[in-house]
Amino acid sequence: MLKMFFYFVGLIILLAGGASIYHLYKVKAKNKAEMNNFSNDVALQANLGKVLVVYYSLSGHTKDIALQIAEKTNADLYEIETAETYSSPSVYMKSKQELTSQNYPELKNNVLPDASDYDVIFVGAPVWWYTMAPALYSFLNKFDFKNKNAVPFSTQGSNFGSFFKDFADKAQNAEILQSENFNNMEEKYKPQISNKINAWLNKIAK
Ligand SMILES: Cc1cc2nc3c(=O)[nH]c(=O)nc-3n(C[C@H](O)[C@H](O)[C@H](O)COP(=O)(O)O)c2cc1C
Repeated sequence: MLKMFFYFVGLIILLAGGASIYHLYKVKAKNKAEMNNFSNDVALQANLGKVLVVYYSLSGHTKDIALQIAEKTNADLYEIETAETYSSPSVYMKSKQELTSQNYPELKNNVLPDASDYDVIFVGAPVWWYTMAPALYSFLNKFDFKNKNAVPFSTQGSNFGSFFKDFADKAQNAEILQSENFNNMEEKYKPQISNKINAWLNKIAK
């Protein structure tokens, strides 16, 4: 009987492992196909005026994209930070609770930038549980876009879920322009990512 139990558990582990390997394989193939579309150099032509890039990032992916946008548009940067930092692996449970209860984290800095100073405001965060990371909810609850242009962007493993719809619901007085999302990519795709950002910025400036 005990032997049967262990066979059963072993089978479940094997099936779950197989499913996640298949998922990773599919994501890798999808990323490769997307990056092939950006293998030719895209010249940056955009002039977006005075730009602010607001971002939240726990492990650096969103920060990397935010810094590239800021460099390309000569923007000011504003980092959203939580008063209490998340640790791994409890970040999964903690953030799930915050999202479910809508009890979003305190921010470290409650002095926010003034939207009036900018023409375009990029706002980026990681996708957590198929929506915006809770820290972005905290920020959006306090921030008034004052009818300025807002450009949301996300980074994620593979699925941004309702991130952009949720952003649109929460961003107060924002004129939302063309959003963009970025799967976490291998280092070798750096030039393609830069081209993807250029193409996106050019589209926004039109
Ligand atoms: C708590 C948590 C939940 C996540 N949920 C998702 C998700 O729903 N979909 C997804 O594609 N990636 C998900 N991810 C992966 C992150 O979105 C991805 O790694 C992101 O680029 C991290 O950004 P950062 O390095 O700026 O913190 C999750 C990560 C964490 C920590």
